[in-house]
Amino acid sequence: MNLSPIAERTNRKYRELYDEKPLVSRSPGRVNIIGEHTDYNEGFVLPAAIDKAVYVAIGKRKDDRIELHSLEFDDFYSTTVADIAPREGQWTNYVLGVVAQFIKRGHPIGGFNLVLDGEVPFGAGLSSSAAVECATAFALNELFQLGVPREDLIFIAQKAEHEYAKVMCGIMDQFASMFGKKDHVVKLDCKTMEYEYVPLRLDGYKILLLNTNVKHSLSSSEYNVRREQCEQGVALVRKGHADVNSLRDITLDMLDRYVATVDPVVYNRCRYVVEEKQRLLAGCDDLKAGHVEALGRKMFQTHDGLSNLYEVSCRELDFLVDAVREDPAVLGARMMGGGFGGCTINIVREDAIDQLVSALTPSYHVATGLELTAYIAAIEDGTSLLDID
Ligand code: GLA
Repeated sequence: MNLSPIAERTNRKYRELYDEKPLVSRSPGRVNIIGEHTDYNEGFVLPAAIDKAVYVAIGKRKDDRIELHSLEFDDFYSTTVADIAPREGQWTNYVLGVVAQFIKRGHPIGGFNLVLDGEVPFGAGLSSSAAVECATAFALNELFQLGVPREDLIFIAQKAEHEYAKVMCGIMDQFASMFGKKDHVVKLDCKTMEYEYVPLRLDGYKILLLNTNVKHSLSSSEYNVRREQCEQGVALVRKGHADVNSLRDITLDMLDRYVATVDPVVYNRCRYVVEEKQRLLAGCDDLKAGHVEALGRKMFQTHDGLSNLYEVSCRELDFLVDAVREDPAVLGARMMGGGFGGCTINIVREDAIDQLVSALTPSYHVATGLELTAYIAAIEDGTSLLDID
């Protein structure tokens, strides 16, 4: 992997500001092939880390101050270790939320300087927030020699999101960012945290991300609502099946019997999750067997479930999926991540990508008044320290 210019810029800025060599960590964004909104329901997910990452340059201070610089937001914030607190809607939450978790677990964190930059587009459903949390957790763990294993750093990162950013996210994004492996997707069982690397062999096809450029502002509140609705569904089924703990244990028959007539909206949410759980397992087998067409068809079904039953899509995402549905060069497409904006993920024949993007860009603009941004996602390794001078 070549060193990104953004990594160099982060490092350089730190040296300019503090006149010393920092420790630099890199943590990538992610894609998810299939298995959306399943992680917090103890289901499976199939994500991969991508070649766009967040970079953190960090160094110790002699006092207890924390100085944070974001190059992306052209912003500076300073506080002390004792005074850290969540600030609504601010990027500092993803850094200070991690500091708070280390402290909560009894790890000694002193003052430090940190410069942050990234190339994961913000609010695009590619988990830029998890990437910041993971890059920060990894860097602080090294800087203060805390000895926390990678397996635990992901939960520190996730809790930062819960407690500082107030999004009750699952574990997929942090896991993918930390544990990603070049040219592989990770099949993660979010109940047991067992995982398997599956080679991503797409033979002549590539992963194309189409960014609606709709920033998903609704997503945090609606995300938390979806999570509660899933819990309500589980509570209803438990009236007849005391042994079920999550939608992982629940069948469509159970939903028909205990939820359908009581709460049709909760029923739709749960039905999507239960169907998606099966779809992922079958889709992963498709991938292993090289049946990429079959996997692609399931991606379209996932989109329809997310749009009609789970209701986390939006007009712009639906437009982009519908626009490629009948295109023989596109095996599969769907909205990706939490929803309400961000990107669609598409499996597209390599030699058809340019033409597809050229045709879609103007039609998307006419339909929505927004610009379309396209990226080809390459699959890369997860979080690491960079050797950089
Ligand atoms: C966001 C969350 C993840 C996951 C996805 C939906 O990215 O952070 O935990 O729930 O949405 O699959």
